[in-house]
Amino acid sequence: MRLLVTGGAGFIGANFVHQTVADHPDVEVTVLDKLTYAGNRASLDPVADKITFVHGDIADPELVDRLVATADLVVHFAAESHNDNSLTDPTPFVHTNVVGTFTLLEAVRRYDVRYHHISTDEVYGDLELDDPARFTEETPYNPSSPYSSTKAGSDLLVRAWVRSFGVRATISNCSNNYGPYQHVEKFIPRQITNVLTGVRPKLYGTGANVRDWIHVDDHNSAVWTIIEKGRIGETYLIGADGESDNRTVVETVLELCGQDKDAFDFVTDRPGHDLRYAIDATRLRTELGWEPRYRDFRAGLAATIEWYRTHETWWMPQKTATEAAYERNERILG
Ligand code: NAD
Ligand code: DAU
Repeated sequence: MRLLVTGGAGFIGANFVHQTVADHPDVEVTVLDKLTYAGNRASLDPVADKITFVHGDIADPELVDRLVATADLVVHFAAESHNDNSLTDPTPFVHTNVVGTFTLLEAVRRYDVRYHHISTDEVYGDLELDDPARFTEETPYNPSSPYSSTKAGSDLLVRAWVRSFGVRATISNCSNNYGPYQHVEKFIPRQITNVLTGVRPKLYGTGANVRDWIHVDDHNSAVWTIIEKGRIGETYLIGADGESDNRTVVETVLELCGQDKDAFDFVTDRPGHDLRYAIDATRLRTELGWEPRYRDFRAGLAATIEWYRTHETWWMPQKTATEAAYERNERILG
């Protein structure tokens, strides 16, 4: 089987490629990635001789046409993925998340290629902190940020291409991922690398916001389950019952690093900051029989800290630029 992975030099895409090479040796993998600030060729070093890498933009119709024409399956991870960046410049979010997805859909439609669309639980908006409800596949779309609205737009394009043109697609909406190779702009790696460089972790607002954490390998095993057993046209929510408030995450990181639990700073909150995400993954578990492997968040966090401790050459070159971007964003947002 010939598999085209978009965004394979990013966090989840690179881990997906590693898992695919290890568990599906019959699959020929081609990665298409623009290598934006978030893409890193080095994330694919462990599998470099087992895959084909193409440097390019998913919104380039000629390139996408050529690559899709020789593929049996497209798994689409490529995106602008960071909420904070979308607040200061939404332009690349519309380009990549909307126009890029449209470009891929037109190509898979032309060649009748099976397509799996990677999306996020953020398309459903947020839940109150004290609401026992969780998101299901039936929750109405209600995105809050330029990032989540462009992801919601891309999901709706996929649904329309399934219904109007018979494109053979599935969609998954996953909760917050953690694990190796995540860019240092994101919450957990930012705080780990802050501690490793002697800087105090930064908590937005009161730190009460809740995210539903899942290990990246569990996300990717769920994606493979959907590719192999999912119903065409269907949406599957992916989550592993990992709800935690941000303050607890930071305190755990500090504790695991041998520091005082309160050695962090509260900083200005993110505008429009979603309160809580929570996934009900019943459909994926009961219909497709998927189960997560990483059930102990604290142990997963300890392993992730260890990965960043031992892979300084991977993340250190991005750290200064990332913190400079945060300072720039703070000035723009006031
Ligand atoms: P990431 O930012 O780490 O990686 C994105 C990758 O896409 C990078 O390698 C980048 O170079 C590439 N890319 C960006 N624009 C491109 C373009 N125009 N053409 C080709 N390549 C381009 O993102 P991530 O965290 O790995 O997220 C991957 C996918 O998973 C996204 O679709 C995101 O919405 C979704 N998702 C992420 C999470 C999470 O917690 N990180 C959770 C649920 C869903
Ligand atoms: O829910 C899935 C989504 O999770 C994905 O679709 C996104 O691509 C991914 O970036 C992530 O979005 P979040 O906005 O939830 O993730 P982020 O890592 O930016 O922040 C996680 C939480 O931590 C959020 O409540 C904001 C907070 N935060 C973040 C940073 C960077 C802080 O308190 N301090 C920080 O320095």
